[in-house]
Amino acid sequence: KPGTTPGPLKYNGTKLIYDKDHEWQPTKSGDIRGPCPGLNTLASHGYLPRNGVATPAQIINAVQECFNMENLTARFLTYAAFLVDGNLVTDLLSIGGKTKLTGPDSPGPATIGGLSTHAVFEGDSSMTRADDFFGDNSSFNQTLFNQTQKFVDFSNRFGDGLYNLTVAAELRNQRIKESIATNPKFDFTSPRFFTAYAESVFPLNFFVDGRNPVRALSMDNATLFFRDMKFPVDFHRAAAPIGGKGLRDVFAPYPIKPGKNINGINTYTPDPTSADFDTFCLLYTDFVTKTVGSLYPNPQGVLRTNLIINLRNFYSGIDADENCTEIFPYGKV
Ligand code: HEM
Ligand code: MG
Repeated sequence: KPGTTPGPLKYNGTKLIYDKDHEWQPTKSGDIRGPCPGLNTLASHGYLPRNGVATPAQIINAVQECFNMENLTARFLTYAAFLVDGNLVTDLLSIGGKTKLTGPDSPGPATIGGLSTHAVFEGDSSMTRADDFFGDNSSFNQTLFNQTQKFVDFSNRFGDGLYNLTVAAELRNQRIKESIATNPKFDFTSPRFFTAYAESVFPLNFFVDGRNPVRALSMDNATLFFRDMKFPVDFHRAAAPIGGKGLRDVFAPYPIKPGKNINGINTYTPDPTSADFDTFCLLYTDFVTKTVGSLYPNPQGVLRTNLIINLRNFYSGIDADENCTEIFPYGKV
C-alpha cells in the first residue's frame, strides 16, 4: 500500500547528520547500491535501509532530513523514479539493480528494475558513471573521476581544486561532447535532459557542509560521497531547503537542444518533440503518457490504483507557479 507523502521538514536549518546513531558501514553481501551517490550514502549510514531497498516515503524523509532537499524536489524526483523503476504494488524501490527484495513483479513491459535501469530515469553523460552503452552505468568509475578533462582535473583547472558552479558547467559540457563523440547510442532527450543539469548542481547544493558559506566541494569530500558513499566527519546538512538551484547557470554557458545520436557517433540531432527548459509541463505530461504509459499500457486492480495514487504524488511535486495541468491517464480513485 502506498504510504502517505511526507511534507516539508518542521525544523529546516542545518544540523549534524553524521552522528553516533548513523555510523557508516561497508556494504554486506546482497546490499544494493546504484548510480546515485546521494542515496547510496544514505543507505550506507542507515538513513535508508542498508540493503538499498526503500519506500518512496523513506527516500523523501531521508533526503530532506540529511541533505535538506526541498519538499517539492524530493517528491518530484522520488515519484518519477519510483513510477518507472519501483514495484507499485509492494511500494518498494531498489536504489540499484533489479532484485527479488522488491517482491513479485507486476505484468510487464515494466521491468521494475531499480534505479540502474537505463533510459527511463538513469541516463547518459553522468559525471562519475559511464554511459550504459559502455557496460556499467551504475558503479563509481575511478577513470571518469581522475582522468584528464574529468571531475578532479576540471575542478583543479576551473575551480582551484574545488567543484563549483563554473566547474559544473564546464564538466557538464565536456561530458556531453564526449558522449556525442564516443557513444553511438547517446540520448540526451527528456527526462535525461533535465536530470543531467540538476545532478550537476547537486554536489554543490547537497554535499557541501551547511556551515560552509561557499558552495564549493573539496575533492576529499567529493571522493567520500561519490566513491565511498560516506559523509565527511561532522557533516552538517544544507542550511536551508534547496533543490535545483544553479541549474540554469550550468546550462547557460553551453546551451544545447535535447537530442540524440541518430546514426552512430557524431550524429547528434536535436529532437524538437522533446521537452526542454521552456516547456517544463511537457516533461511532466510526456513522462506520464510516454515513459510510464509504455511501461504500463493496461494496468489492473491494485496496480492500477497505486499508479493513480503515485501519479498524483508525482504531480504534487510540481510547483504551482509552473501552471501544469494534471492528467489522469488511468482515471481517478
Ligand atoms: C544521479 C536518483 C536524490 C545526487 C542519480 C541517478 C539516479 C538518481 C537514478 C542516476 C542518473 C544518471 O546519472 O544517469 C535519485 C532519486 C533521488 C535522488 C530518486 C530522490 C530524491 C539525490 C540527492 C542527491 C543526489 C539528495 C545529493 C545529496 C546525485 C548526483 C548524481 C545523481 C550527484 C549524479 C551522479 C553522476 O553524474 O555521476 N540520482 N537521486 N541525488 N544523484 Fe540522485
Ligand atoms: Mg547515467
